[in-house]
Amino acid sequence: MRILGIETSCDETAAAVVEDGVKVMSNVIASSVDLHAKTGGVVPEVAAREHIRQITPVVDHALMEAKVSWDDIDAIAVTHAPGLVASLLIGINTAQTLAYIHKKPLIPIHHIAGHIYANFLEREKAPEFPILILTVSGGHNELVLMKGHYDFEVIGETLDDAAGEAFDKVARLLGLGFPGGPAIAKAAERGNPKAINFPRPMLDKDNRFNFSFSGLKTAARTRIIGEGQDNYPDLQDDMVNDIAASFQAAVTDVLSDKLINAAEEFDVKEVHLAGGVSANQLLRQKTSEKLGDGIRLVYPKNLIYCTDNAAMVAGAAYFCPQKDGDFRKVEAHSQLPL
Ligand code: KG4
Ligand code: ZN
Repeated sequence: MRILGIETSCDETAAAVVEDGVKVMSNVIASSVDLHAKTGGVVPEVAAREHIRQITPVVDHALMEAKVSWDDIDAIAVTHAPGLVASLLIGINTAQTLAYIHKKPLIPIHHIAGHIYANFLEREKAPEFPILILTVSGGHNELVLMKGHYDFEVIGETLDDAAGEAFDKVARLLGLGFPGGPAIAKAAERGNPKAINFPRPMLDKDNRFNFSFSGLKTAARTRIIGEGQDNYPDLQDDMVNDIAASFQAAVTDVLSDKLINAAEEFDVKEVHLAGGVSANQLLRQKTSEKLGDGIRLVYPKNLIYCTDNAAMVAGAAYFCPQKDGDFRKVEAHSQLPL
């Protein structure tokens, strides 16, 4: 079964063709990140305008790269939530129109389900359930227990900022640009992770699987700008690198500790890292070191599947129980537990 996926929830205009949920035939991404780098973050109106400009060529390109025609496509999948509303609407309207014209079923996909299924793309080994997934990106930070395909239970989430958002904000304060995650990781390579002892917010027993990064972000801000000031200081490179390394160390300690604790408690067979922050090498390394024998660590096969893409949307649609329905309309609300 070949599914065309469409993803426009944030600043990536993406389309992909995926066969049977795993074989990526094409994966086209037009990112407007360069425009947002100028403003230090995504401006929703700018992102939406770029989606309008890019969506038709991106879909055409995805079919061309996969060497398929509309006759070869069995269904269209589109991210329907969550995300920037104007951006989502462009993907949804495009998918609805294409489904109508080409008489294809339309499958609405939750963005986090997409990130979860990014780990199934190009996967050779069959998954072993239960799986515990840390979904961590600019907008999301959850621990999800997956007992089977599309059987999700959210067992923890952030009470304030997502880790990716904290990376982005601290990078901005450090003058490292946008997106912040890769920029901090790069600066951290030359810094000392022990230079500053940033807090590791683990929270109380009732919140042991929840996250909170706003305190850590404030601690970094106070270290960078100073108490009650608003001016960006002219930091020496060494200091920038040390703050980046220490901040990254604190975030990855919290993420990996909570993930491992939950994996042990729920006795899972696999632990997955998903979403933009799953590209972080230190997070992968720490999780791998802390993981007990008998639990497999899985992260996206390709760095391009960590951040937003449409192959993950097409992949999720293949496993989605709704795929057998004839969905010409995208429901306004999620019918899924995510
Ligand atoms: O999944 P994604 O593309 O978009 C959302 O759904 O939010 O994730 C983007 C986030 C950004 O916050 C970015 O800074 C972060 O993922 N990110 C990273 C790395 N690469 C991207 N964070 C830490 N380390 C990285 N290497
Ligand atoms: Zn995402």
